[in-house]
Amino acid sequence: MKPAQIGASILTADLLRLGEQIELAEAAGVDFLHLDIMDGMFVPNITFGPIMVETVRRATTLPIDVHLMIEAPERYLEAFISAGATALTLHVEATDHLHSALHMLKRADVRAGITLNPATPLVMLEEVLPLADQLLIMSVNPGFGGQSFIPGSLNKIERARALIEQMNPKCNLEVDGGIKSSNIGRVRAAGADMFVVGSAVFNDESSVTDSVEALRAALDRAATSSIRAHQP
Ligand code: DX5
Ligand code: ZN
Repeated sequence: MKPAQIGASILTADLLRLGEQIELAEAAGVDFLHLDIMDGMFVPNITFGPIMVETVRRATTLPIDVHLMIEAPERYLEAFISAGATALTLHVEATDHLHSALHMLKRADVRAGITLNPATPLVMLEEVLPLADQLLIMSVNPGFGGQSFIPGSLNKIERARALIEQMNPKCNLEVDGGIKSSNIGRVRAAGADMFVVGSAVFNDESSVTDSVEALRAALDRAATSSIRAHQP
């Protein structure tokens, strides 16, 4: 299994102090930043666009994982690539041109991601999974931070892991929505290797440092118990 990577989603960060919040997340050891782009069409919420990616790019050397929750995302790939995205993830529900969009990302040397809403079955990946560098399973309905993890996602993650092993073992398996220190171990055990965490990193209850530490400790506990489970 690939090493576990924690990504901080800035959706619930204090945008007035964004530079400081990113510094804290980086110092706490997050592996990447996750930026949620919403257009008010594909999802009800509106967030930010390429200018934010460019701004964050100047503030950190961490990889920037851009999650495009927009209709016809192929219209904006160029803009997000120029802005400095490391990875661009497209919803299979949002475009009729996924195949050519993924090829375009490969040509541009940007990590190509595909993602599925909770209601979308894994069968939608059949023709495109071999073209992806990362598969994102949404464990909430996209649009807002702070929602609860949909329990049925665990089974979908297990099936996605099996599909990746069969069709494209180099592909990362990312999960986004409702991940906290209380469930990240189970998400890891189900087969994920990239964990997007928003409100459990940026919140008013605990510091960014303590929050990331708690997530990392939960992942370490999951690793230890999986080693024990596999000992003869
Ligand atoms: C939801 C976004 C998520 C969100 C996760 O539409 O895609 O990336 O920031 O936030 P939490 O971790 O609070 O569910
Ligand atoms: Zn996201």
